[in-house]
Amino acid sequence: MCGIVAYIGPKDAAPILLEGLQRLEYRGYDSAGVAVCGRGGGLKVRKTKGRVADLAEALPARFKGSVGIGHTRWATHGEPSDANAHPHLDGSQRIAVVHNGIIENADELRARLTADGVAFASETDSEVLAHLIAAHVAEGTELEDAVRQALTHVVGTYGIAVLDAEQPDRIVAARNGSPIVLGIGEKEMFAASDVAALVRYTRQVVHLDDGELATVRADGFRTFTEDARTTAKEPSTVDWEFGSYDTGGHEHYLVKEIHEQPAAVERTLRGRLDDRFHTAHLGGLNLDARELREIRRVKILGCGSAYYAGEMGAQLVEELARIPAHAEPASEFRYRNPVIEADTLYIAVSQSGETYDTLAAVQEVKRKGGRVLGVVNTVGSAIARACDGGVYLHAGPEISVASTKAFTSTVVAFALLALHFGRIHDLSPAEGRRICAGLKALPDQIREILAQEQRIAELAAEYAKHDGMMFIGRVRGWPVAREGAQKLKEVSYVHAEAYPASELKHGPLALISPELPTVAVVPDDELLDKNLTTLGEIRARSGRVLTVGHRVPDARLADHAITVPKNEPELDPLLLSIPLQLLAYHAAVALERDVDKPRNLAKSVTVE
Ligand code: F6R
Repeated sequence: MCGIVAYIGPKDAAPILLEGLQRLEYRGYDSAGVAVCGRGGGLKVRKTKGRVADLAEALPARFKGSVGIGHTRWATHGEPSDANAHPHLDGSQRIAVVHNGIIENADELRARLTADGVAFASETDSEVLAHLIAAHVAEGTELEDAVRQALTHVVGTYGIAVLDAEQPDRIVAARNGSPIVLGIGEKEMFAASDVAALVRYTRQVVHLDDGELATVRADGFRTFTEDARTTAKEPSTVDWEFGSYDTGGHEHYLVKEIHEQPAAVERTLRGRLDDRFHTAHLGGLNLDARELREIRRVKILGCGSAYYAGEMGAQLVEELARIPAHAEPASEFRYRNPVIEADTLYIAVSQSGETYDTLAAVQEVKRKGGRVLGVVNTVGSAIARACDGGVYLHAGPEISVASTKAFTSTVVAFALLALHFGRIHDLSPAEGRRICAGLKALPDQIREILAQEQRIAELAAEYAKHDGMMFIGRVRGWPVAREGAQKLKEVSYVHAEAYPASELKHGPLALISPELPTVAVVPDDELLDKNLTTLGEIRARSGRVLTVGHRVPDARLADHAITVPKNEPELDPLLLSIPLQLLAYHAAVALERDVDKPRNLAKSVTVE
């Protein structure tokens, strides 16, 4: 949510900043801006409501400087506008700041600064940072000390990059709750909120920790704490190639990432299945078998699609390990003063590892003495670091705002966890072997489903003509229906309501008519007959039905059917989710939506 990029070195900064912002645009896309500083000093600033492409068009030809900062925004305080776009400047136009996060005491700081005669140019919380830092540099303080001192007044979360027109040999960056990564180049340095902005130029990076600051110069960097103690940092190498951050010939990131799922699942599974003992090895749990046997309950926390993947995870843990398991939105959990139990294992799920609600839930559990594992995609992210151990997905970078491959890999990670827990509880070797075989079959089965894309695209175009759709599923099919509805509404803006199939007759059946088609998740399991009965009830009310299952139902029960290959019943929900991703994607394409950047949304929700 919001993206930051900064450059210092021998090159012209503006094109590098624009390219970086384009790569970060998925994190926020309602306004964008850059500030550069040339050798002669003096800040040049351009910012505009709209996309990075609008900013690039607005840049004058002579927008030169070899040091600069840039930002792409997702509005929190103040509407998207030129004035509210970052960078923010102080009154003397000396200091420029880009900020991700939320300054919780912004109103108080604003009132104090206004009383001191400061005039504000925007409605944002971020602008206070520019004025606070300016007040310190005006007293002759070095930029790094000015930023450090200014941040002592601030309550909230931030990732920032700061430029001083009178000290243009450096950029100062700081992190607290919102990521900042430094990129080390050849006589040039970068800083950004996400490696996606850097990988074109360097794969050597340094992640700042919370409470850490950095002075970044063309020939190197120094990191230090809020109380001015120098810290030692070891650079690490980014795993992913530059190409992982491109659409790779696909029209959108979303469809590219849907097609990457077989490979993503292979990576999640790699080296983790044990064919001798028919179990899974997960090196990062930091829990031995005795500790795991003492667990009486599993509570899974995540937001949005991560929560729905967690619901599938809870079913896997209950079915395979026979440990009571339940998923809850992290955003609800953190506010309801939850009872934290010593014999409950808490599991936080997050693709980005940055979602603030999920991070806050982890912190709440830990504050009360609970033990938390992370199921996270982004290595070294805030949530991964806050947890006691966990499982990395290795799904690769997910750029499209709507989650697909991370969702699928999360379910696979839960299957591995459930297998591991199961085999130290009551799951037999034969059952373990059955699940291992099922997991190994997944990548090819996903490929088989993806091969049906053309037909699903035709169905999507037809169903997208309706104003809304109902998604239903029973037990294992219920999180599939929820995730299917979520995907459809977020990328196509077609209203979608998900309901347990069993609950339809308790109210929402009243909605059924030829105008509101139903997508029914109908696996070939022990509940098939019940699901077919529900389809009969919908058809008796002239409802249109599209089924997703393992066989084509009687023509009297469904207008259309998408079939998927059969795996083990516990793993089928994962496969049943894939056609619904394609359905949502192609509905969005048919309706000419902004597929990768749906309105009002952003990747990584780092605010409450
Ligand atoms: C939906 C979607 C969101 C995220 C949610 C959590 O397609 O992408 O619902 O799943 O915002 O994000 P992470 O997994 O990064 O914590």
